[in-house]
Amino acid sequence: MTTPAFIQVDGLEKTFPAPMGQEPVTVFQNLDFEIEKGEFVCLIGHSGCGKSTILNILAGLDAATDGYVFMENRQVTGPGLDRGVVFQGHALMPWLTVRENVAFAVKSRFKRHSKDEVNAQVEKYVEMVGLSHAIDKKPHQLSGGMRQRVGIARAFAIEPKMLLMDEPFGALDALTRGVIQDELLAICQATEQTVFMITHDVDEAILLADKILLMTNGPFAEVAECAYNPLKKPRSRQEMHHDEHYYPFRNHLMDFLVNGPSTPYADKASDGTPPAMEEAPRSGPRRVVNA
Ligand SMILES: Nc1ncnc2c1ncn2[C@@H]1O[C@H](COP(=O)(O)OP(=O)(O)O)[C@@H](O)[C@H]1O
Ligand SMILES: [Mg+2]
Repeated sequence: MTTPAFIQVDGLEKTFPAPMGQEPVTVFQNLDFEIEKGEFVCLIGHSGCGKSTILNILAGLDAATDGYVFMENRQVTGPGLDRGVVFQGHALMPWLTVRENVAFAVKSRFKRHSKDEVNAQVEKYVEMVGLSHAIDKKPHQLSGGMRQRVGIARAFAIEPKMLLMDEPFGALDALTRGVIQDELLAICQATEQTVFMITHDVDEAILLADKILLMTNGPFAEVAECAYNPLKKPRSRQEMHHDEHYYPFRNHLMDFLVNGPSTPYADKASDGTPPAMEEAPRSGPRRVVNA
């Protein structure tokens, strides 16, 4: 018997009840995928295919209509402090400082920690995202990028078994996004954090992910392909476009988003081209030349 994956998603489906006078909507169905411990998995797909709903089900904040999520062989049935979530908006408490926001999460997770232990944990993770200088500021005194960093520090500070991130950098400008991507990459590499992240940004997925789940459009969306990232690790934003696999892989992901599913990347040649079609068997009598 093979050992089950760290996260096992089996036959997941979500159908929302019908609004008055309309049919119920099955947003996605038959989702099967796995996440190994320490793996960084990205999910890409167009708006409305159900990505956030999937993340919420993994977080235990929403329930599937059918199918199961198992984490370390136990079914996920509700939220838990073994999973840290970073939402698209920062979701910080506006009346608390950075220190207090992160401390709130740390205290709920580590109930027996002394005040000093909580504070040490908070400072460690706030420093990790480069915000020590702003630790006693309130969210409204911070830029969008800084707020999103606090959200990341808060999620890491509870030392979750799995980090779930829903387009965490979607609202940031490209420059800030790049800097935080680098920070996240460094933190994840150092901590071997297991991550499930939704993104719209193909380059972000190529930089960060070990594997990328490609979702078709809803309704009845499915995971059409699980593409393993062929680029060597460690990767960096500055260097990755020099990797021979970068353009073929990027083209594959872009083609998926623009044209829909095609030959899975793993079945293409090393330069990303689809395998040559075998010549179709001829039907009917052969044409005899020079007979
Ligand atoms: N609570 C809800 N009730 C009814 N429909 C919903 C609800 N939440 C999401 N949906 C619908 O489910 C689909 C998927 O939503 P979502 O998971 O947010 O997609 P994505 O994150 O991929 O953009 C959308 O069409 C959305 O309108
Ligand atoms: Mg979404």
